[in-house]
Amino acid sequence: MTNKKSADANKVVATPTKRFFVEMLTRDIELDDAILDLLDNCLDGAVRTNAKKRVKDKSRPYAGFWAEITLDAKHFCIKDNCGGIPIDIARSHAFRFGREDNLRDKDFHTVGTYGIGMKRAIFKMGSDCWVRSHHANGSFGVHIDEDWISGDDKWELDMDRQAEVPKDEGVSLRITKLLPGIEHHFDPNKGNFEEVIKKKIRLHYAYIIKKGFVVKVNGHVVKPSDFQTLIPVDLASDSAIAPYIYQAEEGGVSVQLIMGMYERFPSQGELDDYVDGKRSKDTAGWTVVCNDRVVLANDTSHMTGWGESGVPVYHSQFIMLSGLVEFISNDASKLPVTTTKRGVDLNSPLYADVKNIMRDALKHFTSFTNHWKTQTDERANMQTQTRAIDIREAAQSVRIDKWQDVRKGLKGRRFVPELPKPKEEKTHAKMSFTRSKDEVQLVTDFLFDPGANPKPSEVGEAAFDWALNEAKA
Ligand SMILES: Nc1ncnc2c1ncn2[C@@H]1O[C@H](COP(=O)(O)OP(=O)(O)O)[C@@H](O)[C@H]1O
Ligand SMILES: [Mg+2]
Repeated sequence: MTNKKSADANKVVATPTKRFFVEMLTRDIELDDAILDLLDNCLDGAVRTNAKKRVKDKSRPYAGFWAEITLDAKHFCIKDNCGGIPIDIARSHAFRFGREDNLRDKDFHTVGTYGIGMKRAIFKMGSDCWVRSHHANGSFGVHIDEDWISGDDKWELDMDRQAEVPKDEGVSLRITKLLPGIEHHFDPNKGNFEEVIKKKIRLHYAYIIKKGFVVKVNGHVVKPSDFQTLIPVDLASDSAIAPYIYQAEEGGVSVQLIMGMYERFPSQGELDDYVDGKRSKDTAGWTVVCNDRVVLANDTSHMTGWGESGVPVYHSQFIMLSGLVEFISNDASKLPVTTTKRGVDLNSPLYADVKNIMRDALKHFTSFTNHWKTQTDERANMQTQTRAIDIREAAQSVRIDKWQDVRKGLKGRRFVPELPKPKEEKTHAKMSFTRSKDEVQLVTDFLFDPGANPKPSEVGEAAFDWALNEAKA
């Protein structure tokens, strides 16, 4: 209704229209991110369900939970067995635009905060949706359709307690009347969205899948991406390729940062291919993870400290450097993520502090890389002394006496590896000095043939060699 009037002649109407919400909310989120929001809800459900029971295998807390996405030109559906929506939450919160109760879930590692994800995803894709939930305390279905969206008076939805619901305790959300652009994306004959979303899930849910969660897209199980790092075969060796690690606890958030070598140095041929763009690598750079969700993947920009305050700009020479920063909190609003949950909140003071350490780790490793630019036997040999492990397990490979307490900033502790240096650097020393031009000319005339035009550094070297011969004689 557009001509809404206030009953009181001295009041003006300020209630929002639903269209406004539908259009504004969906404008600044990408389709794939909106779908990941729905997957986040499934996972939040699993986290809540787990909180009610004892998880047997701590390394695989999501084992047994699944979410299945199906999509085509006619529909989008996501179904899970993660516990369902409790009736009271459905009545008072789940379908509202925005959360008022930020303390709900305060004891779990969930990511829902703003109370818009589900609604935003629905309206991003279509104009007709059935949400069906089977929860231990009751079942229901809620239908959102075009009439509801265009009617502004009624902000309630009907809850159908007799609706058909999933067999397992969980939620199914089915969207039809897809918007024209979405229909096109989902149509396997026109777009390749199935692959796009699988790739996104592979990356963003890598840890969650490794921890037992199963995600299927159109019947195919999604495999997780790998995040690995090299550690020394011999953990007792003092100087070896090992990751830089930092850990801290700050105001209810625990932080862990690991930067290391993802794999061996590329050969010159491989490097040329990277430079020419014939080869690409998506393991380089920083990955930021908040409560198990990857919010930024393999970033090589200023957002993660590259090219800032003395850190070199990213270049293919650094292709094997790869780092992980992880934030964990029971209070999702303390995590440095943007409202879409798929980006780092660059205004977060916590992130700014952590970024200082990220830059420090980058400097440590970029300078290491610079020392080993050339493909030598020594370099090849050094690399055989390493093995790859899951980057998150790296902290366990550090000897207890090697940790240092950090006194500045966020405090905490860190391990800074003593990275190997080429032998030549250990046995050779660099000399550089300045002399007056007259004196340099005198020495040039003394040591070089007339007409020769050596650089000052060559004169210095020749002078050293002459003195060396004298010394040896
Ligand atoms: N798949 C699901 N399983 C369990 N609960 C769900 C699911 N989807 C949505 N919910 C409930 O609906 C609420 C609203 O979801 P959403 O709009 O994404 O906001 P938020 O996740 O930020 O709270 C969630 O907090 C949760 O209680
Ligand atoms: Mg959500």
